[in-house]
Formats: sequence, C-alpha cells, structure tokens
Amino acid sequence: MRETNKIHFTEIESTNDYALKNMEDIQDGTVIYADVQTKGKGRNSRTWVSEKGNLFMSLVLKPEYNLGKKNSLCAIVHYTAVVLTRVLETKYSVKAKIKWPNDLLVDNKKIAGILIEAVIQGSNLQGIVVGIGVNLNMEKDLLERLDQAATSLNLLLNQKISRDKFLDYLLEEFFSRYEKLLEKGFSLIKKEYILKNMFLGKMVKAVVFGKMYHGLAKGLDDAGQLILECGGSKEVISAGDIIC
Ligand code: BTN
Repeated sequence: MRETNKIHFTEIESTNDYALKNMEDIQDGTVIYADVQTKGKGRNSRTWVSEKGNLFMSLVLKPEYNLGKKNSLCAIVHYTAVVLTRVLETKYSVKAKIKWPNDLLVDNKKIAGILIEAVIQGSNLQGIVVGIGVNLNMEKDLLERLDQAATSLNLLLNQKISRDKFLDYLLEEFFSRYEKLLEKGFSLIKKEYILKNMFLGKMVKAVVFGKMYHGLAKGLDDAGQLILECGGSKEVISAGDIIC
C-alpha cells in the first residue's frame, strides 16, 4: 500500500484550483482536502456547494508516461466513479449507480460528483487533478434548495458520517488497483462500470459542448467513451452530460 501525502485546509477557495496552481510542487499521489470551500467548482462552470461536514478533495496524479488512448482521462474518471460505488457499498451498504460520465446517484439523487482537470505543457502531461465532492453530512433543507435532486449519506443512514474515515476508505480503495489501471486502462473496470451504470440500453439526451444529442446509449468503447446511436449515425462522446 502506498503512503498518501495529505494536505489539509480548514478553508480554501477550491481544492482543485489549489492543486492546479501548485502542480509543480505537489508530489504524485497527494490528496488536498478542505473542511469548507468558498468557490467549489462543479462541471460545466457550475458551483459545488461546499459546507462543512462533507468531503471536498483533489487527488494529484502524475503518471510516469503520457496518457495514451488506453490510459485516457476518461478511464481515470470512470475508475474513480467505480471506487466511490465500492466504498459506498462495502463500507456503508449503500448501492450507488453511475450516470455517465461521473455522477454518483442513489435512488436517482446525486450523492457525489467528480471533476477531473489536467495541467498540460506543450505535449507533456504535468499532472492530473481528480476532484471529488461527496455529500456526507448535508442538511435536508440545503439539499432541497440545490438545482438538482441530491441526497447525502447521513440522511440515507440516519447517522453522522466521519469525513476522515470516508477519506481513508476512499484512498485505500483508489490505490489498491491504481497501478493496474495504469497498466490496463479502462478494460480493468469496464465490466463493473457497465454493471453499475444506469443509462446503457436506454434512449438518452446528451449535451456535449452545448450541442444536444438524442439517441440510444449503445455502449462504451475501450477508452470509456460513450457510443450513442442517433438515427442512422453513430456518435462517440468522451465528455458531456446525460440529462435524462
Ligand atoms: C460535478 O459533479 O459537477 C463535479 C463536482 C466536483 C466537486 C469537487 S469538491 C473538491 C474539488 N474542488 C472543487 O472545486 N471541485 C471538486
């Protein structure tokens, strides 16, 4: 088991932004986490509400070689989603489903999200930031004011959740197969990801850089990209949002 370097803040604007700005000085495998974020970021320029009691963390990864097709960012996002489902299931008996590419849902309500960013200089990958937000101890009325249906582990289990324990479980699960992921890419978790997804085989609408696609979610390719069958054409999508 590798040793994880931890950097903790009581308050920070965004753990992802801290990691991006300080990438050069941060060691591979370091986790940056904070009690509160004042400018927590979600995907697609959304805000991530970041109140005390929940998990806000960014994992800095510096794989020794550049990401090829096999080890795409897509594979790391999907791996992280699978890691989260495993922690929720094995440690808390909560079954979560994955909504492509990286939302974790319980009973159709979002419990966690992943925001992956990378620092690239020229053609060199300097590092990857895997930002993870998990609703561990949200107040019910705050959840109801969010712009999408959301849930929180404390409400599902009716008890206060230890953020530090959750973080340790997550890091243990993440690093248990990370080296294998770098070796094998998305194929390492493809079966498990498919089993835990909630959209394959269904008609979905996906928004990709502002463009709307409507089609049958046919499958995932070997890099973890979504294959959509839209009328007569096939679209392969690596980023975006499924909206229903
Ligand atoms: C999403 O589902 O939109 C992704 C949410 C990611 C939120 C986490 S919280 C820790 C890290 N720092 C941020 O500013 N965002 C990510």
